[in-house]
Amino acid sequence: MRIDIVTLFPGMLEAPLAESILGRARARGLVDIRVHDLREHAEGRHRVTDEPPFGGGGGMILKPEPLAAVIDALRPAGSSVRVILLGPAGRRFTQAVAHELAREPRLVLVCGRYEGVDERVSETLVDEELSIGDYVLTGGEPAALVVADAVTRLLPGVLGDENAAGHDSFARGLLEHPQYTRPEVFRGVGVPEVLRSGDHGRIARWRQLMSLWRTWQRRPDLLETADLTPEEQKWLDGFRQGRTASDFLD
Ligand code: ADE
Repeated sequence: MRIDIVTLFPGMLEAPLAESILGRARARGLVDIRVHDLREHAEGRHRVTDEPPFGGGGGMILKPEPLAAVIDALRPAGSSVRVILLGPAGRRFTQAVAHELAREPRLVLVCGRYEGVDERVSETLVDEELSIGDYVLTGGEPAALVVADAVTRLLPGVLGDENAAGHDSFARGLLEHPQYTRPEVFRGVGVPEVLRSGDHGRIARWRQLMSLWRTWQRRPDLLETADLTPEEQKWLDGFRQGRTASDFLD
């Protein structure tokens, strides 16, 4: 997959994209991520990219022409490129949207800035607008990183089998179970006995139960659409009647 990111601040993206799993995926050729400086597409000696809004009010608005120049260059006529503007007024980005985007051959992520982007960019140049949550960032750069990260880790070969994306929180619509590593006792708190038992069946059942319990406790909204086994449904009915996870442990 190829991901092109358009920004006025390439430095906000380059270092994070060179590190860790994303950096390795790029080095191995599993994803081709390119960062484009919007200013290079602005005309004139001063390469102006923003202007005050018509109608008054504070702040600066990104002008449409430099964005049009870079988007047109990245999307030749007839090509299959999905162009996404990052902004707080967009559709909510979720794990389901990450899976949807991971199926595309090419994405262009456009980072909004300042007080906004000329509305004609949304109307005529981009396919859709995405928001990473109900809060306002100073610009779309952190959001573009979030989208690039969540999408890249779903691409074949990026994660090893061990921590493949199938085990994730949200893979089945539930939060992940708690995890522990050494030491066995930390500040007086031990590791649940079952995890040290070596009994893979019991461990799997404990993890399934704790995943459901944690979701019930922290994100009950997710249970409205989660895909539950008959046993999980029975546990959930128990939680609704006031039982806790420990009531179901053997
Ligand atoms: N730009 C500013 N705020 C944003 C948000 N919540 N999501 C995506 N892009 C943004």
